[in-house]
Amino acid sequence: MASIADLAREHCALDGPRIVHLQRLVRSWGLLADLSFSDLMLFGRSDPHPGNLALLGHVRPTTAQTIYRADLVGALFAEADRPVAAQVFDRKRIAEGQIALVDSGESVRVVAIPVRWRGEVIAVLTRESLLPLARPMSELERTYLKVFDRFARMIEAGAYPFERDPDDQYKAPRVGDGVLVLDALGRVEYNSPNAVSALHRLGVHDNAEGFTLGDLGVDDGVVRSAYSLRTHVIVEIERRPDVTVVLSCIPLVDRGTVSGGLVLARDISELRRRDRLLLSKDATIREIHHRVKNNLQTVSSLLRLQSRRLESPEARAAVEESVRRIASIAVVHETLAHAVGDEAPFIDVVRPLVRMVEEGLSSPDQPIHFSIIGDAGVLPAHVATPLAVVLTELLQNVVEHAYPTGHETKPGQVLVELGRDGATVRVRVVDDGVGLPSDFAIGSATGLGLTIVRTFVESDLGGTIEMRPRAGATGTYCELLVPVPSE
Ligand SMILES: Nc1ncnc2c1ncn2[C@@H]1O[C@H](COP(=O)(O)OP(=O)(O)O)[C@@H](O)[C@H]1O
Ligand SMILES: [Mg+2]
Repeated sequence: MASIADLAREHCALDGPRIVHLQRLVRSWGLLADLSFSDLMLFGRSDPHPGNLALLGHVRPTTAQTIYRADLVGALFAEADRPVAAQVFDRKRIAEGQIALVDSGESVRVVAIPVRWRGEVIAVLTRESLLPLARPMSELERTYLKVFDRFARMIEAGAYPFERDPDDQYKAPRVGDGVLVLDALGRVEYNSPNAVSALHRLGVHDNAEGFTLGDLGVDDGVVRSAYSLRTHVIVEIERRPDVTVVLSCIPLVDRGTVSGGLVLARDISELRRRDRLLLSKDATIREIHHRVKNNLQTVSSLLRLQSRRLESPEARAAVEESVRRIASIAVVHETLAHAVGDEAPFIDVVRPLVRMVEEGLSSPDQPIHFSIIGDAGVLPAHVATPLAVVLTELLQNVVEHAYPTGHETKPGQVLVELGRDGATVRVRVVDDGVGLPSDFAIGSATGLGLTIVRTFVESDLGGTIEMRPRAGATGTYCELLVPVPSE
């Protein structure tokens, strides 16, 4: 669907600042439709088709039924079929009249308001409703319609929409949430039943009429800012931690002076309570990762104590390897303990893993230099954990097998390269050591390290492993490709 900017540019040859004015109007016109219990339509004069009006926008009220079920936005209307709107482009003043609906022949009452920007009428806003039934209006209806008329005069005078919208306009309550109409001094002239309830939540139990919010003990900063800045202001007021009310105040301006204000109020305590619950759930997940890490460290210490009592060097080495594998899982939990939700940037896991392997290097006569390049993005815990164990095995193999003592004098260069291509993570480990044994094949490798690598990558993660001599140089090239399930 074309945006209002596209339509205004194509159909009416309107330019940047004029389009911005219309966009601002449309951003808050749900409020105006609700106050007038009517459909609102925005017309521009067609530039390529003179004698026609282009429908740039349409909003239906939530407080009444719409009279237009079809989506007409973007349609052209002959000016003769929309005489009330058409004449306002020339007369530049609010006009009223009736038109007959094309399909049903029903009469529609139209109020057409010139939308003025810096003295120029750039569009016409129409309020369209069926002729009122012959029943007396309630006080609420009369009040809302009067407020709408004040907005209409502001639009006609170019005083609305304001030059600046609040950034948090999406938070603004709707008319149905609760309405207060204030006078020029900020005193309550009218409050809707829902506004009375919202004020109740803020501790106001007396009749508010005739008093300012400040008189009633409610923080009235929102009204004072809106009146003095002459713009729409929205604030959240907290009264005790369990009550939160959003107040939004729009100053009503008449010939350059603030003649009153419209305040919308909404009790959002329940929403905030759920926010807080979610926050604390997140904190709980982090705390659990922290504890798992601590427990794993305890297991590592116990195994280390055990290995010191073992006589057999082979048994010792086996237990030491287990300690290392557990430590690599602990690194993942440590990273997750600082992350939001149950996923972490994999680079934050890789860096400490490489550091761990570097620190474990025992022979200073065979220095090995590790570098990390690229990025694998964010991985969920159930992918990051096995992948961390696998990477540790590969790095450990480099340390143990690629640079046998007495082989070379220059330091080994090991590259850990991460990459992410959509839903696939790539991890490469490339060394410039002695290379794999001549009869090596990853599919038939029987050592525990590569068995773990194969099981985790192929069976658990559904990925692939390529491990072969480096092309054009000595050393080993290993590449893992692992799919990341999108949740
Ligand atoms: N980067 C490497 N450079 C040279 N040889 C390697 C490398 N990685 C693995 N290998 C070879 O693969 C074998 C199997 O490794 P692995 O399954 O981890 O068992 P282990 O490390 O206990 O020997 C190693 O013994 C070694 O011969
Ligand atoms: Mg190994």
